[in-house]
Amino acid sequence: MESTAPRTRARADTGPEADGSPSAFEPVTVTARYRAPRAGIDPDRSRRWLRRALPIVGAHKAMFLTALLASFTSLVLTAFIPLLLDKGITNSIQHHTVPLHFYVWWIIALGLAGGLAGYVSRRFLFQTAYRIEFDLRGIIYEHLTRLSFPFYDRVQSGQLISRANSDIRSVNMYLTFAPMVLVQCSIALVAFGFMLSIDVPLALVAMATMPFVFVVGVRMRRSMFPVSWLIQARLADVATIVDENVNGVRVVKSFAAEGQQLRSLARSAEKVRWSYVKDADLRARFTPTVQNLPQVGLALVLMLGGYLIINGHLGVGAIVAFNSWLIMLQAPFMMLGMIVMMGQRAAASAERIYEILDEKPTVVDRPGALDLERCRGDVRFDSVVFSYGDEPDAPRVLDHFDLHVAPGETVALVGRTGSGKSTVARLLARFYDADGGAVRIDGHDVRDLTLTSLRARVGIVLDEPFLFSVSIRDNIAYGRPTADLDEVVAAATAAGADGFIRELPEGYDTVVGERGYTLSGGQRQRIAIARTLLVNPPMLVLDDATSAIDVQVEQEIHAALRQLLGGRTTVVIAHRLSTISLADRVVLLERGRAVAQGTHAELLATTPLYAEVLAQGDPEAAGPHRRALDGGVR
Ligand SMILES: Nc1ncnc2c1ncn2[C@@H]1O[C@H](COP(=O)(O)OP(=O)(O)OP(=O)(O)O)[C@@H](O)[C@H]1O
Ligand SMILES: [Mg+2]
Repeated sequence: MESTAPRTRARADTGPEADGSPSAFEPVTVTARYRAPRAGIDPDRSRRWLRRALPIVGAHKAMFLTALLASFTSLVLTAFIPLLLDKGITNSIQHHTVPLHFYVWWIIALGLAGGLAGYVSRRFLFQTAYRIEFDLRGIIYEHLTRLSFPFYDRVQSGQLISRANSDIRSVNMYLTFAPMVLVQCSIALVAFGFMLSIDVPLALVAMATMPFVFVVGVRMRRSMFPVSWLIQARLADVATIVDENVNGVRVVKSFAAEGQQLRSLARSAEKVRWSYVKDADLRARFTPTVQNLPQVGLALVLMLGGYLIINGHLGVGAIVAFNSWLIMLQAPFMMLGMIVMMGQRAAASAERIYEILDEKPTVVDRPGALDLERCRGDVRFDSVVFSYGDEPDAPRVLDHFDLHVAPGETVALVGRTGSGKSTVARLLARFYDADGGAVRIDGHDVRDLTLTSLRARVGIVLDEPFLFSVSIRDNIAYGRPTADLDEVVAAATAAGADGFIRELPEGYDTVVGERGYTLSGGQRQRIAIARTLLVNPPMLVLDDATSAIDVQVEQEIHAALRQLLGGRTTVVIAHRLSTISLADRVVLLERGRAVAQGTHAELLATTPLYAEVLAQGDPEAAGPHRRALDGGVR
């Protein structure tokens, strides 16, 4: 089945800049050869976990049932062997009525056929298992891509990674191996039938211990459940710490805090060890019991069977056959105990996976949402109220915030750190939904627009430029993978990045280190700007996008941007005067409100807070350079 992955609903019929206007855009299409999982989990939360997982198994039922059937066949075939053994001993060895090779050949033939069926069953079983694993990964990952920012603000990435690995594995193991073990246990019935056909009291005695095996299994389940849950949780904690250690290695090392990190890792690892030891302890108590109970059965068989043989009621072969059957049954019954344990672990894992899958994306397309196709770029914040998190006492980050940016206008947002500038940008691209008021583009509430078209129209260069570990060219072309090299170079040139990229050993093909750490902060920022410019969005937000770039280069970028920005609605968030000088108008933000606006000169003259904020962001702005730069700002 080819991709059913979501495609943007925006039409690309305008082509790349057909009329040269910045409002034309190429939609961000998902065209990879991604095969969507065939089924998802049952969304009904009231159902048991296994019931909810059935659709996933159901998607592979043909293969799975073949595996189970082959397994059953294989077992039935091998269950005949003890019967032949009994007959062989009685008829050929004791009474010489049938030639011995008759039974020998039959046993060999059954053994071979059983082996073949066993091969088919294993082959298909593992194939099913890995397909289910693949599907589970796909389902989780697809869901993660759909979840909204509030979810990612809350969740720890180590937890996610752990869920995507060990939890999937344990659910998958249970889904495929539990039915297999059940099939194997069902063979107990067949063997029991054979035993009954030989001697009823002896058959009952032989099976007498099996209920105890089961009872011990159930007790095991009760005591092991909490521990298996604990292990998963502790492993996830370790994953989180390791993840933060690796990603935050620069911070860790700069504070020479390796010791501290090691200690916190050791603490978590110690907890993992403790829960594993607890687990091993319980296992050590129960497993020998489960293993040795069938031996008791064997002793009983010898006792009663021996008595029957001595009294001439039974042949010697019967004891040999019973022995073989009991040995055959031992493995499935032991596995039954194991499956019970795997079941607990899988249940805990499934709950953790469902926790993600049951998480509803909060920012989604409204039914019948509009595609923002032709766009003038008129941006309006109408008395927007917003706080992060759902708690009623969460601090208001935007408090009746008003802003209008006319099409083609460039506005600088200035404010103290934490005043809500980046939040304004995030609400414009609808990373979050406003709690009150509305964000409008060309008069449309952003909540009435499709997310894909909205985000293709609003280009944001974030304050923390995240690059992927791919080539610089692919990084720049991230929003438009089909762009050719000339377009990539043009975008890089406008962002002032072309020069340094060409100096790199492999130029545009240089693969950057994780998160772009092989580049300087200013270089990363320039690549991030080029990446957004390439998409050519009619609305652009530069969130402190040039903070790490020196003033000289910044001004070159601005010169290029001025040409490119012509007719484009732009919001620059800035601390530096050099950046602010790009704007037609400055809006001063304080505690989530627009407290003043005007040209740079006006604000400087009328609003002491403005000068104060500027002085913090750019100490030189309040000094001798001020007048020189003032000229650049209308
Ligand atoms: N994801 C988040 N979850 C919870 N609170 C947040 C989140 N992001 C920001 N905040 C809070 O919202 C407030 C405004 O943050 P915002 O990032 O908009 O500030 P800013 O004006 O961009 O600051 P800076 O100049 O330092 O970038 C801050 O008090 C911050 O602590
Ligand atoms: Mg910010």
